[in-house]
Amino acid sequence: MTALSVRGLFKRYGRVPVLNGIDLDIARGSLTAILGPSGCGKTTLLRIVAGFDRADAGTVALNGTDVSSGRKVLPPDRRAIGYVAQEGALFPHLDVQANITFGLPYLTTGRRQRRDRAAALLELVSLDPSLARRYPHQLSGGQQQRVALARALARKPSLVLLDEPFSSSTPASARPPGPPSPPRSRPRTSPRSWSPTTGPKHCPWPTTSPS
Ligand SMILES: Nc1ncnc2c1ncn2[C@@H]1O[C@H](COP(=O)(O)OP(=O)(O)OP(=O)(O)O)[C@@H](O)[C@H]1O
Ligand SMILES: [Mg+2]
Repeated sequence: MTALSVRGLFKRYGRVPVLNGIDLDIARGSLTAILGPSGCGKTTLLRIVAGFDRADAGTVALNGTDVSSGRKVLPPDRRAIGYVAQEGALFPHLDVQANITFGLPYLTTGRRQRRDRAAALLELVSLDPSLARRYPHQLSGGQQQRVALARALARKPSLVLLDEPFSSSTPASARPPGPPSPPRSRPRTSPRSWSPTTGPKHCPWPTTSPS
């Protein structure tokens, strides 16, 4: 089953073409990286898949169902997608717990459930549960990005889009959550060079820059 299927996606900003007929299939349970130079359209593609922006042409299907084709455009909150924006984008006026549980339905989750869920997600992203009451400005950039990841996972989405989510983390703390490995004198990998199971997909379109 294909988790994500993109066909013939076009997007331009003004007269600048950014996406030129993108086709992309991502299998369920797989991990795919999209690599390309700054400005080539990676964020634009993710934002269209998530539903934050509209394509000029083309279709997006999730789990075999069209979510963006022609006039039919499903809003982001109905796409079951977790999205970690490049800039993190935490709500500055909400503490960590409230940020993480923001998308959970209020009527079906009590205060205690929300607290437990936030604690479990903090643990999942290797953050101390004591951070739950801090505000974003009281966290480091890397910690903020992990909170954004926890928030993206809170609703158990079927697809998670990560837009350079560890760019503010040092290579050591950017390792995916899991058991710690012994320290090294020099980092072996950077977040950009993790090898996904399906192999990286390089931007197949030319880099554009406004002239
Ligand atoms: N809202 C917008 N209005 C006009 N131009 C935009 C807008 N958003 C992005 N662009 C332009 O579209 C191009 C692609 O931008 P995008 O953010 O998708 O690149 P990217 O591949 O994610 O780059 P980076 O690696 O730097 O994050 C860039 O030239 C950018 O300036
Ligand atoms: Mg980007």
